[in-house]
This record gives sequence, C-alpha cells and structure tokens, in this order.
Amino acid sequence: MRRPGPAGSAAPDCARERCVALTFDDGPSPQTPQLLDILARHRAPATFFVVGDAVAAAPAPVRRAVAEGHAIGNHTGSHARLSALTPEAARAEIERDADAVLGAAGVRPTLLRPPFGAFTTALRAGPYPMVLWDTDTLDWQHRDARRTVREAMAHVRPGSIVLMHDTLAETVDAVPELIRRLRAAGYHLVTVPQLFDGLPLFAGADYRNRDNAARPGHAALPHPVPRPGAVTWRYRPPYPPPADHDREAFTLDTRPDVCHATPPSFALRNETARPVEMFRDPQCRVPAVVLRPGDEQYGATGGFRVR
Ligand code: NI
Repeated sequence: MRRPGPAGSAAPDCARERCVALTFDDGPSPQTPQLLDILARHRAPATFFVVGDAVAAAPAPVRRAVAEGHAIGNHTGSHARLSALTPEAARAEIERDADAVLGAAGVRPTLLRPPFGAFTTALRAGPYPMVLWDTDTLDWQHRDARRTVREAMAHVRPGSIVLMHDTLAETVDAVPELIRRLRAAGYHLVTVPQLFDGLPLFAGADYRNRDNAARPGHAALPHPVPRPGAVTWRYRPPYPPPADHDREAFTLDTRPDVCHATPPSFALRNETARPVEMFRDPQCRVPAVVLRPGDEQYGATGGFRVR
C-alpha cells in the first residue's frame, strides 16, 4: 500500500521511479524549525533520526514534523555508541528514544540508525531494522553548504539514502539548492518508509539504500560469506561502491601495524579475536575507536589496523 506523502499527495512508486530519501540526524535542534519551513515550502518529505534527550528538550518540532508528513527514526536516547554498551544498556538507549518520540508526537519509531554507524552482532538480534546511508555528505566535517550539495549530487543514485544533520546551520542552508538539483535530475524526494514501501525490512538487518531491501535473500546479509579470523569490508574502495557491492566481501591483511585507509562510506566487521583500532586519519595516527571482536562500524573516514 502506498503511504501518503505530505499534504496527502501520493508518494511515487520507487520500484519504477527515481527516489531519494534525505535524512537528518541528531536533532531536533534550534535549526529544525527553519528546516521544516524549507521542506514545507518545497513540499519535500524527509526523515529525522532524532535523539531522545533532544526530543525531550524540544518536542514541538518532532510533533510538527510528523504532522507535516515526515518520518521519524530512532537515533538512541543520548546519541550513544551502542557498540560500547552491553546489549541491555543498548536496548535501554533505544527504548528511551522511542518513548521520547511517542511522548512528543504520538508515534513510535520503528527504524534505528545507530549513532556513528557503530553496532555489534548483539544488535543484530533486533528489535529494529537499521537504516544507514549510501550517500554521506560529510556535512559535519566541512560545514560548507555548497560542498554538502556537491557531495550529495556526486554520490546519489536511484534508491539512495543521504546522510545530513539538522543540527548544522550550513546544512539547512544547503537544502533548497539540494532539492532543486535533485529534482532537476529527475528524483522524487521520499521518506525512508516510502523508499522501502512494499519491501520487507528485517529486524537486525542494515539497509543503506533501496537495493539492499529489494534483493532476494537480503535478510541473510550482511555476511553471505563468513570469513572467521578476518577483518571484512563490504564496500570496495574506491568510493562510491558499485551497485553490487554487497556481494563483495574483502578480507584484508590483519598483520599488526599494517594501516588501512578507509573510504568515506564503508562497512567493516571485525571477525578476528583481536581488537581493531580505528583512527581519524588514513595514516593511523589519531585514535578514534576500538572495535572488539564481533563489532561492526559503518561510515567513517580514516584508517584502521588490527592490534
Ligand atoms: Ni548522529
């Protein structure tokens, strides 16, 4: 069944038409009302992955977003790195956000975006499908409206999910031009639920674009070829990945002190018995986070090595 778009307009059929889902993380923020004004003016639906603490502090923009046809997703109660928590604590973070959204807007989000793109095997036990992205604007890094538009247009393809943050004024500034350029390229703007309309989404599976859910057998992803003892990439450098990237699994050199640079959007799973150190820079000098065995990390730019 087709879900209605804003103001009751029919959503496009994303199986046949070029669709793209704009997503905004980490809000609501003081910028969110202005963004909602822009989206309303352009009749452009979007999806907000909100943080529970921010929702509790400012419920009105979330209520308004729902009333105006936008979708709300779960981004945890406190923007927690779920891979650093016990499964119980991770579940509590997720439920706290869901409760905050329910209290603010009367709807319970059913899609999870793990903060930092970090999750673990335990999170794959559910309870929600995880929505990641295949088009990273890197807006939080450069904070440049024109570059946000440029990055989005360089990587977007039919069925894409675009990552942005409605906590950044520069990102809000980029949205009118981005909408104009996307529509000029023949794209329909949809919410994430509209993007996946008619396709099954499975709890614990992760989705970066519509293709992920359209492929038969996708519930068995993301590791069709388990390679115990390896560090596995699902994205092949260079960025952006080819359309069939999910079939690719790359086992990398796991000798200690071999530094691997990462592209901006990729998925890495630590199947070794050793920690994997991730770094902010491609030379592995500035530490970022340590992945324990079984941890997964999505979408970071820098480098990593196996300890
Ligand atoms: Ni975030």
